[in-house]
Order: sequence, then C-alpha cells, then structure tokens
Amino acid sequence: MTIHQHDIECREFDPDAARAVRSLASDIRRRLGDTPHIATLHDPELLARIDGRVGELPDSVREAVRPPATAAGATVVRGLVVVDAEFGPTPAHWQAAAEHAADGSLDLDIAMLLLARCAGEPFGWEGQQNGRLVNNIVPAAGHEDEQSGASSTTLLSPHTEDAFHAARANLLMLACLRNPDRVATTVSSVRQVRLSEDDLRTLATPTLPILPDVSYGTGFDSLAPLPTLWFDENGAATTRYDPAYTPLDDADAEFRAAYARLTAELARVCHAPALAPGEILLVDNDVAVHGRVPFRARYDGTDRWLKRVNIRLPERRRRAQESSENGYGQRVVAPFRASTERTVERGMADERGSVEQP
Ligand SMILES: [Fe+2]
Repeated sequence: MTIHQHDIECREFDPDAARAVRSLASDIRRRLGDTPHIATLHDPELLARIDGRVGELPDSVREAVRPPATAAGATVVRGLVVVDAEFGPTPAHWQAAAEHAADGSLDLDIAMLLLARCAGEPFGWEGQQNGRLVNNIVPAAGHEDEQSGASSTTLLSPHTEDAFHAARANLLMLACLRNPDRVATTVSSVRQVRLSEDDLRTLATPTLPILPDVSYGTGFDSLAPLPTLWFDENGAATTRYDPAYTPLDDADAEFRAAYARLTAELARVCHAPALAPGEILLVDNDVAVHGRVPFRARYDGTDRWLKRVNIRLPERRRRAQESSENGYGQRVVAPFRASTERTVERGMADERGSVEQP
C-alpha cells in the first residue's frame, strides 16, 4: 500500500478560536447542573444550549470545520487544545467511556458537539453506542479481530461509514484525544481513483446489498442491491463501499473484478494521517472511505482514544432512490433536525445553503 502522509488538506484553528471552543464548552457544562443524560448526550437543556450558543464562536471556527475542500475528501484540522491529564485513563470499552464521561471527557464531548453543529447536524444511531451523539472509539478486549472501531490487531478495511443506510453521515468528525503509538487512520477518495469506463459502468449498476456492521448486531437479511460508485448530480464521483459487509461471492466475475480494481485503486490513493492529540480528521463520507492500520492494544489506560461524530449536511442531496430503503430497521437519533426544519419553514436560508436533502 502506498502511504501518502503529507498531501492531505490541513487547517489550523487560530489559538483564540481554539480557546473559545473549549471555554464555551466548559461554560455550557458548568451551567448544566448535575450533567443529566451523559450516557447519550440527549438532554434537551444541553442541546438547547448548544444551539443557542454555537453562534458565539468566531467565524474562523466554522471555516475550519467546513467539509473537506479537495479531491482527497479528507482534512486534518489542528490546534484544539487537549491536555492528557484531563480525561483520565482510556476506558476499556465505549460503555465505560460514556458512563464515566462526567469524570473525564464530557467537556470534550460538548466541544465536539459545538464543532459538529458548526459543520451541520450531529446525529447518532439508536442501535449504536446507545444512540450517543458523540461516540468513543477505543480498542476493546475480545474485539481485536472484528471489523469495527473496537478492533485493533486487524486492519480495519476502508469503508464508507454506515454504508448500509440511506441516512448515513455526509461528514465524519474524528477527534484524537490520545494516540501514543501514532496509529494511522486511512482515507482514500473515489475522486482520486482511475478506472476504465467499463468498470465505472459496472460499479454504478446496483448489484449487491451492504449489510449493517457488527456494531449494530448480526443476523440481518440481505436487502436491495446498491450502486458502489456513481456520479452525483454535479458529475462528481460518490460511493457506498464496505467490502467487509458486502456479499461479494454473490456477484458475477465481471463485477467482482471491477470491485477488486476499485479496491486496488483505493489502496493506491490512500492517505494515512497518524492523528496527534487535539487533531481532528474530517472525512467526506460520500467521497472518501476510511479505515485504520493494525496495532497492538495495551489495555492499560493509555490506548488510542478517538471521539467520533456523525454529521448530516442538510444542503447535500442524495440519490432519490435511497429514500425507499428501509435501512435494516436502524434509526437515527437526530435532535438537531427539528431546528433545521424550523429554519427552512421560516424561509430562511441557513448559512450552509438552503437545499434540503431528501
Ligand atoms: Fe468507520
């Protein structure tokens, strides 16, 4: 695999802006009283304070977390201030991270919600990490070899986040709290691959379904076939790709060969930023697939720890056919949707554009 370490878009919070994010998050937390609903972050008072006060952040924060601007479909944003001692040890699994957030990373959770709200609409999944709006990505004992964020010793194959679902994120925000072994995250863009016209035609034809990943459970029946790679209304390459959850053996040889060539191209154009504490990776989930190189988990409280937020960009359209997908019964928790819809109803163009995604 060719690794391109440096040719990925980088942005930097200016120091005042970075301080403003952390101090607004701390102030919101202080005013919350006994920090209710930390397991999910669904507390209406917290959400109202995020929406009510996100506008206090300088414009440069919104600039820094706007969707990636280059064909790489990914951007590293540097400069969020994180102090290792403030979080406590890396928890043993996501449940522990959520339950003990009040003693450690809750301020960072709120900072992440503020940043995600600057970019679009943060949301969670009912069936994943208890619907929490900010997920914790930590290696978990017993899950080393699975294709999920809890794994470690296995290569986490490049994938579209929640490729199986029509309501998947447009933008992923991955913030690094701790990464002592500099474990690289991988990102590869379908806007940088080179494929023949025949392969593009084959991959645009709905051929195979994509199943939910193991973090949602198991035993799902295969449903409608989906296209793998197609061109959106602006002629830009777009993808839903998750080989670990795609029944490739059910396709004919021509499709499997085209899929294999796409996989090889995604490896060729792979970028592998090793996030440092305080760095945030933005991934355009319609354009770039992401994964993680293998590593040996320590399980001693010092392991790699990322925070992840799924973000919907209301101005971005998806293929009309996706609106009929049933999503294997998985439902989003989208508490910020209502305020976007109120904005649209009032006929106000919000600052990110005014076209509603179906
Ligand atoms: Fe992922």
